[in-house]
Amino acid sequence: MTSAANIRVDVHLDPDQLRAALRTEARAGLTASPKQLSPKWFYDERGCELFEAITRLPEYYPTRREQEILTENAAAIAELTGADTVVELGSGTSAKTRTLLDAFAARGRLERFVAFDLSEPTLRAAAASIAKGYPGIALHAVVGDFDHHLGDLPGGGRRLVAFLGGTIGNLGPDRRASFLKELATSLRPGDSFLLGTDLVKDVARLEAAYDDSAGVTAMFNLNVLAVLNRDLGADFDLHRFHHVARFDVEREWIEMALRSTTDQVVTVADLDLRVPFATGEEMRTEISAKFRRSGLEAEMQAAGLELARWWTDTAGDFALSLWTPAGAGLGSPSPG
Ligand SMILES: C[S@@+](CC[C@H](N)C(=O)[O-])C[C@H]1O[C@@H](n2cnc3c(N)ncnc32)[C@H](O)[C@@H]1O
Repeated sequence: MTSAANIRVDVHLDPDQLRAALRTEARAGLTASPKQLSPKWFYDERGCELFEAITRLPEYYPTRREQEILTENAAAIAELTGADTVVELGSGTSAKTRTLLDAFAARGRLERFVAFDLSEPTLRAAAASIAKGYPGIALHAVVGDFDHHLGDLPGGGRRLVAFLGGTIGNLGPDRRASFLKELATSLRPGDSFLLGTDLVKDVARLEAAYDDSAGVTAMFNLNVLAVLNRDLGADFDLHRFHHVARFDVEREWIEMALRSTTDQVVTVADLDLRVPFATGEEMRTEISAKFRRSGLEAEMQAAGLELARWWTDTAGDFALSLWTPAGAGLGSPSPG
C-alpha cells in the first residue's frame, strides 16, 4: 500500500505480476484454435489514451448516451441508494463518474471514492485529478484485475458499486455469470450496483461504433500487438494485420478481431514461441455483448440481484440500471 496526500493506493497487480499474467494468457491465446487475446491487454497507457479518443468519436455513441442518463438521473441515484461510498470497477479516467460524485457530494454524504482498474498509471492520474476536485473525500485506488481481485475490494460504509461504459459486455456469458455472482455475494444489505449496458440495435450503427471512419478503433485494436512486441519481445508487424469488427446477430455481440493479411510466422521471444498465421486468419481480441432488458434481468436474477431502477437515454441506445441483493431492496437511506 502506498499513499500520497489523501490517496491510498493498493496494488494487487504490480508490473511484474501483470507481465506474468500476460505471458500465461498470451501463450494460451496464441496457441489456441482459433487464436484469441483478452481485451484487458488493450489497456496500456497508449491503449487508455486511444480508448479516451474513441469515446469522443461521432460513431461511438455509448459514452455520450451513458453520460446523458447520468446527467439526468445522478441526483435520483444518490437519493435512492443513500450511499456514502462510490466504488467504480474498470474506472479508467472516471470521467463520467464525476457526474455521480457531484450528485452524491451535493447530498453532503460522499465520504469515499474507490477506483479499481488494471492500469496503474491511468488510475493514479485519475485519483490525483479527483483528489483536486473533491478535497474532502477519502480516495482509494485499487490496482487489480476483476478476473482475480474482486474479493479485494474494500468494504465499509454504504456502497454503490458502479460498472460503467458497457465493459461488462467484454465478458462472455459464462464469465459474466461468475463475475456477477461473485459481485452479488460481496454486496452487503444497503449496498447497490449500478450497471451500464449497451443495448441491441441497428447492426450498421453497432458496427460503425467499432469501426470508425477515422480509424481510431483500428489503432486501438492493433495496439494490443504493440503491447505483445514491447512486453513479450514479439515481432508482430502491425501493417500485416487488419482491424475487423462485426456484429454476431445470434450471440448479439460485437466481435473485434485482427485479420492476418498474409501468410506469416510471428516470433514471441519471451515465450519461445513461433506463431503461424494464414492469410485471412482472424485472432479474436474482444467481444462486446449488447443487451436486452429481459435477458439482463434473467442473468442478474440468476446471480442473486434484483432490479431497482432501469433508465435509458432518450434514443433508447444505452441502459443504466440499479440492482440490489435479492430481498434486500434499496432499504431506507439515512437522511442526508
Ligand atoms: C471500456 S473501458 C471503460 C472505462 C470507463 N469505465 C468508461 O466507462 O469510459 C474499460 C476499462 O476497464 C479496465 N479493465 C479492463 N479489463 C479489466 C480487468 N480485467 N480488471 C480491471 N480493469 C479492467 C480497462 O483498463 C479500462 O480502463
